[in-house]
Amino acid sequence: MAILPIITYPNKILEKKTGKIGDIKNSGLRKLVLDMLETLEENKGIGLAANQVGKSLRLCVIKLDGKTHILINPKYKSKSWRKEIAEEGCLSFPGRFFPVRRHRKVKVAAQDRQGNELVIEADGILSRALQHEIDHLDGILFISRKARVSAKKQLK
Ligand code: CO
Repeated sequence: MAILPIITYPNKILEKKTGKIGDIKNSGLRKLVLDMLETLEENKGIGLAANQVGKSLRLCVIKLDGKTHILINPKYKSKSWRKEIAEEGCLSFPGRFFPVRRHRKVKVAAQDRQGNELVIEADGILSRALQHEIDHLDGILFISRKARVSAKKQLK
């Protein structure tokens, strides 16, 4: 395994939509997943998308509450109508945090490393992480989703 350099903003690859992965059992992909997990851990992040390490592929990893999620070709099944705002960070924006409005709950389908379909239903931080990472895969950065929080609301 190897720790990969993380690409930071404003590198253009971060704003390019990633490509769907066809050959899931490819050995290069297996190594990329392991390297991404090690890189995520080393940087004490919650989530990492493949384009953040220079690979424009529809793959992301999330580590939260001792659980590891590896999502290949993730897509939404549903998103809650209700949204909530919370502060987010991103490994491609070291030291920067912004309030972002996200769907409260999401249901995401993806493939696992064997190519089987997996479905995750999440709320809370996992829901937020899934939306942040799927945005990365679509070339959307959290700075473009910065919530305008009024002074009044911030006091609450
Ligand atoms: Co990020």
